[in-house]
Amino acid sequence: MLGVKCVLLLTLTAACQGNFLDSMFPSLMQTVRRLGDDFKQGALGISDKFVSLFKVPKHISSRLGKEDNVPPLMRTNDKVDSGRILAEYLLDKEDAYLDIMQLVRKYQYAIETHTVTTKDGYVLTMHRIPRSGSPVFLMHGILGSADDFVIAGVETGLAYLLAREGYDVWMGNARGNKHSRRHVRMSPSEAAFWDFSWHEIGYYDLPAMIDYIQDETRQARIKYIGHSQGTTAFFVMASDKPEYSEKISVMIALSPVAYMSNAKSPMIRLLAPGSNFIHSVSKALGVHEFLPDNNFVKILKHVMCGHGPLAEIFCTNNMLLVAGFSFAQMNVSNFPVLLGHFPSGASAKQFAHYGQGVVSRRFEKFDYGTVGNKKRYAQINPPGYALEKIEVPIYLFYAEADWLAHPTDVQRLFLRLPNTTQLYKVAFEPFNHLDFLYAKDFKKLIYEKLRECLLMY
Ligand SMILES: *[C@@H]1O[C@H](CO)[C@@H](O)[C@H](O)[C@H]1NC(C)=O
Ligand SMILES: *[C@@H]1O[C@H](CO)[C@@H](O)[C@H](O)[C@H]1NC(C)=O
Repeated sequence: MLGVKCVLLLTLTAACQGNFLDSMFPSLMQTVRRLGDDFKQGALGISDKFVSLFKVPKHISSRLGKEDNVPPLMRTNDKVDSGRILAEYLLDKEDAYLDIMQLVRKYQYAIETHTVTTKDGYVLTMHRIPRSGSPVFLMHGILGSADDFVIAGVETGLAYLLAREGYDVWMGNARGNKHSRRHVRMSPSEAAFWDFSWHEIGYYDLPAMIDYIQDETRQARIKYIGHSQGTTAFFVMASDKPEYSEKISVMIALSPVAYMSNAKSPMIRLLAPGSNFIHSVSKALGVHEFLPDNNFVKILKHVMCGHGPLAEIFCTNNMLLVAGFSFAQMNVSNFPVLLGHFPSGASAKQFAHYGQGVVSRRFEKFDYGTVGNKKRYAQINPPGYALEKIEVPIYLFYAEADWLAHPTDVQRLFLRLPNTTQLYKVAFEPFNHLDFLYAKDFKKLIYEKLRECLLMY
């Protein structure tokens, strides 16, 4: 496992075999080293760990020369009561330890699991809260799972809200997440198991799950709601397998991710220039799964967030600093439940594929290099996805401060989609990427409008 440590350490601190990376990536490594020094020297006010955490994103951005436009995790007028957060956090929360089946049953909802095998042999689990109404298919984002739609709690979780309206709620799980780690021939300990990005999730997993829902419910058309990568994979499917457009009556995209070049997430900006390289090094060393519980996280925690209980809470989960959330919309008492269920696993290639889009500014297939591209695509560069082919009515829900789905990128996507597509901007300025799942005011800010969209189809 030394390899794992090295690759992940290198990307942030150049602490091991630094010379090798230095020669490959001089400016990235220089930036990373400077950041490390800043943090060590207390440039962020390390005496107050909590404050330093809020300043981290802006600080990274300024070191990258992009100081101007990174929305902070907090507005200056938001008051965070750190004592209260700690007190709430340390309360024992049973829900943090229950799995999705136990959790949903605890709140008196029926839940079923279903097993779906894809054309390329991945064995996926679907979760369903069965109802007699029309089927709605919910698809999670990167590092997420079906859990994402219930962990906000019974008052706010999207799956519960839909079930209460009578919708038959089906929740997918992409290959590689904690519920879908099986294959007819391969095991997750084999490198080949992890050789997929969101392209394969859109090309194989979504069609298999949609066909399955159709067969089970005998409904010709399904409503689709995706969050983040759940929208990316949908755009892949609808571009590459246009016949699936007929099976979807309406698609709701919560924080749509296709174009990435304006993404503000400081972590994405920091890592993207090296994502191709990082992927090839990790492949060479046998690191294929993006492990949430590894040294990458520990480095983030200690170098970037300092020490202490609050850093422990917010920086344990690097996803929070990759995707972003707003403190104003965070349900503090539910935070342990969130951390108990998220992240759920993904492949390194999924991240590399997104990183590619940040650099190339295109929504395109995975770049296998000149030789690999010629073999696969019969051209030197990876082909773009044919968004024009999509025929489904689509609602794009986006937010001004979203670290991953930047309004400019969403606008670009909007212009390439068919003219039936509609934009809906969340009426809360600091709303961020993960708030589309967990916001305290999800009902008011998202669900009221989402419900109207569903009712029209
Ligand atoms: C916040 O979390 C608590 C604890 O999980 C839950 O009881 C409450 O309903 C949540 N609030 C909202 C608005 O969902
Ligand atoms: C949308 O595009 C179709 C053809 O693609 C066209 O017939 C229709 O008039 C357009 N509608 C609007 C409102 O532009």
